[in-house]
Amino acid sequence: MRVTRLLHLVRNRRMVQKFDDRMVAADVVEAVLEAARYAPSAREAQPWRFVVVQEALARHQIATGAFNHPLVKTAPVVVVCCARIHSHVSGSGRPSFPMDLAAATQTMVIAAADLGIHSSWIYGFRESVIRSVVGIPDDVPVVALFCLGHQAGLSDLPERRPRADVIAWDRWRSDDARSRLS
Ligand SMILES: Cc1cc2nc3c(=O)[nH]c(=O)nc-3n(C[C@H](O)[C@H](O)[C@H](O)COP(=O)(O)O)c2cc1C
Repeated sequence: MRVTRLLHLVRNRRMVQKFDDRMVAADVVEAVLEAARYAPSAREAQPWRFVVVQEALARHQIATGAFNHPLVKTAPVVVVCCARIHSHVSGSGRPSFPMDLAAATQTMVIAAADLGIHSSWIYGFRESVIRSVVGIPDDVPVVALFCLGHQAGLSDLPERRPRADVIAWDRWRSDDARSRLS
């Protein structure tokens, strides 16, 4: 397997427990958002709209809406990730905007890591609270919160399931077959 600089970055990135009180430089925030703008989206709908929240009171209110999650409480920057366009994949009828927003958010995770900044997705929040804090219209889904900051303390490297457990080649392999292999 070829271990590229990007693979090294991806393998060594980790979610933090908490951010310290250092700010994130404006040009870093902009670079991370620029990466999101270039994420792929179904039919190139680019449904994402991002509200970058730095103002202390709004961040505090957002943290309340996110059940006082320690990352949201301590993040100097919280990006509210919304979907302006309720895009669907033609044929399947399945909504594509959650996937598009996921692609954009993960692109931000990688861009931030590349810049030495920690980040995390937060999916657990009361949408109505976030909506009212930043004035998001009722017809615009709030898909995720994305927190950016500098790590406070150290956290463990992420553990991942072994390759053989998660990847099959050519055909689905049942868990029974996997356990016989291992
Ligand atoms: C779609 C998605 C939603 C997530 N939502 C939350 C969340 O609500 N709260 C939280 O603490 N972490 C959340 N996370 C972060 C994951 O828990 C974290 O990425 C996972 O534990 C793996 O850790 P790592 O990022 O260090 O690899 C979310 C991650 C993803 C991809």
